[in-house]
Amino acid sequence: MSQWSRFLPFIRPQMVIMACAGVAVMGVAACNLVLIRLAGSLWDLITVQKDLQQLTTMVWMFIGLVVGQGVLSMGHSYMTALASQRVMADFRTHVFSHLHRLSLKFFAKRRTGELISRLMNDVGVIQNLLTETPMDVLKHVVTIIGGVGFLLAMNWRLCVLILILLPLLAIIARLFGKRLKAFSTKIQDQTAKVTILIEEVVSGIREVKSFVQGKREEARFRTAVEGLLSTTMQRAAVLAVFVSFITFCTFVMASAVLWYGGKQVIEGQLSPGDLFAFVLFAGILIGPFGSVARIYSQIKEVQGAMARVFELLDTPLDIQDSPNSRPLVPIRGDVQFEEVQFAYEERPPVLDTVSFSIKAGECVALVGPTGAGKTTIINLLHRFYDPTKGRVLIDGHDARSIQLDSLYGQLALVPQETFLFGGTIMDNIRYGRWDAGEADILEASRRANAHDFIQVLPEGYETLLGEKGVNLSGGQRQRVAIARALLKDPRILILDEATSALDSQAESLVQGALVELMKGRTTLMIAHRFSSIQRADRILVLHRGTIIEEGRHGALLEKRGLYHQLYTLREVEGIAVVGKS
Ligand code: GTP
Ligand code: MG
Repeated sequence: MSQWSRFLPFIRPQMVIMACAGVAVMGVAACNLVLIRLAGSLWDLITVQKDLQQLTTMVWMFIGLVVGQGVLSMGHSYMTALASQRVMADFRTHVFSHLHRLSLKFFAKRRTGELISRLMNDVGVIQNLLTETPMDVLKHVVTIIGGVGFLLAMNWRLCVLILILLPLLAIIARLFGKRLKAFSTKIQDQTAKVTILIEEVVSGIREVKSFVQGKREEARFRTAVEGLLSTTMQRAAVLAVFVSFITFCTFVMASAVLWYGGKQVIEGQLSPGDLFAFVLFAGILIGPFGSVARIYSQIKEVQGAMARVFELLDTPLDIQDSPNSRPLVPIRGDVQFEEVQFAYEERPPVLDTVSFSIKAGECVALVGPTGAGKTTIINLLHRFYDPTKGRVLIDGHDARSIQLDSLYGQLALVPQETFLFGGTIMDNIRYGRWDAGEADILEASRRANAHDFIQVLPEGYETLLGEKGVNLSGGQRQRVAIARALLKDPRILILDEATSALDSQAESLVQGALVELMKGRTTLMIAHRFSSIQRADRILVLHRGTIIEEGRHGALLEKRGLYHQLYTLREVEGIAVVGKS
């Protein structure tokens, strides 16, 4: 129950519309009942009383009711759709707003396809039950109460007969419903699997092609789709039997009613019109009784969907503002790691007692073998994660005491792999500072050595990028990322140098842009290239989560330690080829 109440804030604003829709749907049900009652009377007028004048009046009433019912039905459909779509849009936005604030820890464990499925499919399933089902229930309640009332008033014996037969039908429906439900759950799971597969292949299309795994992916897809097909067909088989069986039962029931009712008509205890109305009433009562089972299974289905959505909503935001966090006034850019220890989940620590400081405006390079913890350090500086022990200080303030938006506002990350959003190049650069004017964007782009290549694109800055911007080269993407960072104009710069080697011309363009970007800022960079390392004021050599050497290039070489080893074995360059963050 408490789970359901969590939807109240989303339903409440739609209450007025839903109430109107509810009144309309009850009106529709009432019209149906009266129409049937009228049909019975019409029958008697034709066969028994043979009164033409009254017949004409009745037919006009009949038409009037049909029109009224139509108008109400239209209103009900539109208002229900409006309320339910609004509830879903608001709830989806609520889930999305929680989703994007979750920490990287959460995303590291999830698949994109699964999250999309929760946000789209599961929320859709819930929405149906929240808005459309209550309308159905209202309609059914009115139909059952009104229908049974009319029947009782006409002939209680026949009514009792129908009330015995209808629940029987409902029980049969319920039995089938259970089996159908099991299949539905399985179909949902299998559909989610297929979605995840598509998402993976599309995201990893380069790997799929280059490792020639197309056939295998196709086979995997075929297996998944065949599994889905098989379950869907099993459900279709059960459904086919169910529909025919229910139809059969309905006819048997109708026969029973016709026989018993017919007998009463022959004996003069019931008018032919009443019998006619009886059969029609019994017909419209089947719906509500049958749907009891359907609604029950729908509730079960929604409970599954709700569990998945709430699991997401209940995942705490572990990186968020603490109650007494303060905004960061424009900062100098001092960075300090104070005995920082960090572990991903319950594993052994990846960083152990890492301490270093970077003075404002200094450029420090992180060097070390693959898996040493370089990316982890910049993740901590960017506060994508919080240290398990120790502190990360910015201008002497614990990063956890600074308001997130204000902290992020002072940092810029140029990652190994630049993510470009679908949209224009202009908007992709503007991502650095959304309120930037066009002149600022052009200026940033010039300083990032990006202006020249953008200008010769077919539509210049308005050129649209495909998903992930596949139409730009690696070096071009990096320069877009640098322009973005320049536009943001942060005090602290975090660079994860791309490992992929660029040709020398592209390399010098990127390096030139980086020099421009680093001017007057604190920089922490993971450097794979000798040229970048040389530019650093200081080098930190990381090995298995601890800093084992520190100093300038020349001094470190003289030490003849790990740095010397990495350098002389040209492993620094080697990592550039094989390393991955
Ligand atoms: P390269 O990028 O290859 O040069 O390595 P790196 O120095 O950047 O290493 P990184 O900081 O990425 O990883 C350090 C250790 O943490 C490695 O042993 C990784 O396996 C581990 N690690 C990195 N990211 C995650 C994560 O998201 N979850 C878990 N559980 N472990 C991680
Ligand atoms: Mg890395």
